[in-house]
Amino acid sequence: MLRPTRLRSTKIPSNQSPKSCILRPRFYSKAPLATGHELSVLITGGSRGIGLAIAKQFAQHPNVHTSIVGRDESTLRSATQSIADSSKTAENPNNQPKNVQHSYIVGDVTSREFWESLSRRDFSRATISESSSSATASGWDVVVNAAGVSKTGVFARQTAHAIEHVFQTNLMGTTWACRYMIPAMLKRARSLRVSIDSGNHPGMCIVNVSSLLGLKGGTGSAAYAASKAGVLGLTRALAAEYGPLGLRINALVPGYVETAMTDAMDPKARDLALQSIPLKRFGTVDEIASAAVFLATNRYANNCVLNLDGGLSAT
Ligand SMILES: NC(=O)c1ccc[n+]([C@@H]2O[C@H](COP(=O)([O-])OP(=O)(O)OC[C@H]3O[C@@H](n4cnc5c(N)ncnc54)[C@H](OP(=O)(O)O)[C@@H]3O)[C@@H](O)[C@H]2O)c1
Repeated sequence: MLRPTRLRSTKIPSNQSPKSCILRPRFYSKAPLATGHELSVLITGGSRGIGLAIAKQFAQHPNVHTSIVGRDESTLRSATQSIADSSKTAENPNNQPKNVQHSYIVGDVTSREFWESLSRRDFSRATISESSSSATASGWDVVVNAAGVSKTGVFARQTAHAIEHVFQTNLMGTTWACRYMIPAMLKRARSLRVSIDSGNHPGMCIVNVSSLLGLKGGTGSAAYAASKAGVLGLTRALAAEYGPLGLRINALVPGYVETAMTDAMDPKARDLALQSIPLKRFGTVDEIASAAVFLATNRYANNCVLNLDGGLSAT
């Protein structure tokens, strides 16, 4: 069953009241990503793990707005605060851009209605501050589909509900995001006069987070592997279909990464995984996040399927 959609974004006043959400970091350490353009980035699964790290790396750049999506408002609120905090630096105190905001949207990626209303920027059921409307109401240039779940176990013993949940989140969540955000992004590109030939904008881009398990077998992960293989198929087909329209679609293929997802691994399975990785360690979320920024901003990256697995794919 689809959950009711709830979009929520509230404002953080300058006096830092507890009802904070729209955050204005004061100082930035890096150059703008796209000179002359502000870039709006929507990141599902941005409340923790890989998605949060991706949001933080985008937020290092002074002209980037981030909007993170997850199901739990209190986690999203503190993640949004940490995104704004991480983008501050004392190194460049005078470089204070205008109107850079970070916000969150409470929603379930498995809900088709959620994506439909987001693509129309229908926030009728949302609490949106006036100052946040420029970041969210004008749409997004980059969409990163990082929300995902993993349920491990012998396939024939997994419940139908567990299998469905994995497919609904990993594959259908990404599919609905692409289905509804692509028309919205193309419309935004037309309104911004952004094209693949544009000199100062990286162009519209979707980054889908797949998994090495979608390419390489592994016991106990059949539904997860199938859902992530589906994400790669979706990425390839869409890259061919929308590349000519100036919308790039790319995929990240992480191996094992240190997050809550891998914290939940059985210790024996973890040891076995560590032994098989040529670099003998799991990746960090920052190592994955920098690749997401690369895919979103490299204007020749389309159907770029980038594996970051410490060499596990070679074994
Ligand atoms: N960690 C790894 O080793 C690894 C390896 C390969 C690929 N990946 C992929 O990388 C992505 C991120 O993984 P992670 O390790 O960072 O996972 P994580 O720490 O468990 O975070 C998962 C994120 O997805 C969100 N989420 C889950 N279901 C959702 C739903 N129905 N609607 C909206 N948001 C939802 C969670 O927020 P809420 O629960 O609060 O909604 C959370 O923000 C996933 O797609 C995963 O499959 C991870």
